[in-house]
Amino acid sequence: MDRIRIVGGPTLEGTIKISGAKNAALPLMIASLLTPETLTLENVPALADVNMLLRILGHHGVDYSVDGRRTGEDPHASRAIHLTARSIVDIMAPYDLVSKMRASFWVVAPLLARMGEARVSLPGGCAIGTRPVDLLLMVLEKLGASVEIEAGYVHARAPKGLKGAEITFPKITVGGTHTALMAACLAEGHTLITNAAREPEIVDLADCLTKMGAKIKGAGQSIIEIEGVARLGGASHRVLPDRIEAGTYAIAVAMAGGNVLLEGAEAHLLQNALDTIERAGAGISVTNEGIRIKRNGAGIEAVDVTTAPFPGFPTDLQAQFMALMTKAKGSSVITETIFENRFMHVQELARLGARIRLDGDSAIVEGVSTLQGAPVMATDLRASVSLVIAALAAEGETMVNRVYHLDRGFEHLEEKLGRCGAIIERITNAA
Ligand code: EPZ
Repeated sequence: MDRIRIVGGPTLEGTIKISGAKNAALPLMIASLLTPETLTLENVPALADVNMLLRILGHHGVDYSVDGRRTGEDPHASRAIHLTARSIVDIMAPYDLVSKMRASFWVVAPLLARMGEARVSLPGGCAIGTRPVDLLLMVLEKLGASVEIEAGYVHARAPKGLKGAEITFPKITVGGTHTALMAACLAEGHTLITNAAREPEIVDLADCLTKMGAKIKGAGQSIIEIEGVARLGGASHRVLPDRIEAGTYAIAVAMAGGNVLLEGAEAHLLQNALDTIERAGAGISVTNEGIRIKRNGAGIEAVDVTTAPFPGFPTDLQAQFMALMTKAKGSSVITETIFENRFMHVQELARLGARIRLDGDSAIVEGVSTLQGAPVMATDLRASVSLVIAALAAEGETMVNRVYHLDRGFEHLEEKLGRCGAIIERITNAA
């Protein structure tokens, strides 16, 4: 299994190109199931999760091709993929595929909307908590499907097609909102979604569906209206830049010090996080090319953070920001409100010398002046990258194990950091 070795100390100087967003690319790829025509997605990051989803879509009958690179092209540039679900050959998504990636459960909505039936394995638990799918099933039922759970599978049926409905989410859910968008655009009549998620990835999916012929109003706001259409067609769409990747590297620069341009990053996608990182002592400026982040000499200030749905501070940056706070002057309180068990990084950060105490859904971080390198591992991708961030500012060598978590969500992480001066290398096939 691969490992990543980091020697802490150097500041980061240079440019990091921000990739297409994983969490936008995945639902966009799934949307290809809604049409027999070709959906072309540009700026798709080269990630293990994208490759896994291509396999899953192939199982349902999607033909796909991935653009190659021309000579001289940046090997780190995200790619274009073409997806054509001319006919759906299987409405069943088996356990061995869905259990590898939770987001693949989202195929249930387009399969049901297009074929009138879907059988999809329940995704099961995951490293960041129980993560139920009750609200996704509520969406399907509201739109007129019968939903039964049989032997670990969700069996959803709507032989006469889905019908528009009023859907009110009792809790904001990204996956629930993606599900409602994809199912309602092929349902007959009008759908009103209340308390919808407002994440940029929702807007990106709605934009793409609109190019495919869907009639959607209000994406990015709490109330979304959809007028169903009989069929959707092909389209070409560019995946938006990854706000979590941009936030992660911004925090890395705040931690290690230096001056880096996050090329292609869009500040409005992560304003809350940028404001928080700025309060922690980094300088941030927005340019035509992206976001520039600097920290020279000044210490790291302690800042309290509470995660919240967009436009709040994202849960997907909580672990990274906690890593930064381990070296702050003073103590900070980090409260996680989205997932109930997203603190697995705490024990591993402690191995590097961090002082963190858990109290319910909060972590109290007492800043220390020095972290010490150590062997560490983590059980999800954001937790893993928080260890990389801590390691950049730790004395000596840190070995991050279970690197496959990083490969699920960060494109060319060690090259991107290495080109800015970090001492970081991948050790392949280590025992
Ligand atoms: C998406 O997960 C992201 N995944 C997550 O990113 C992200 O952390 C999360 O949204 C929140 O922003 C992808 O986009 C692939 P939710 P999702 O439904 O849609 C509860 C990463 O690291 N809930 O918004 O699964 C749920 O348990 C990942 O890239 C129900 O109770 O998240 C959670 O407490 C991890 N019932 C809350 O809602 C349901 O039916 C928000 O979850 C669905 C969700």
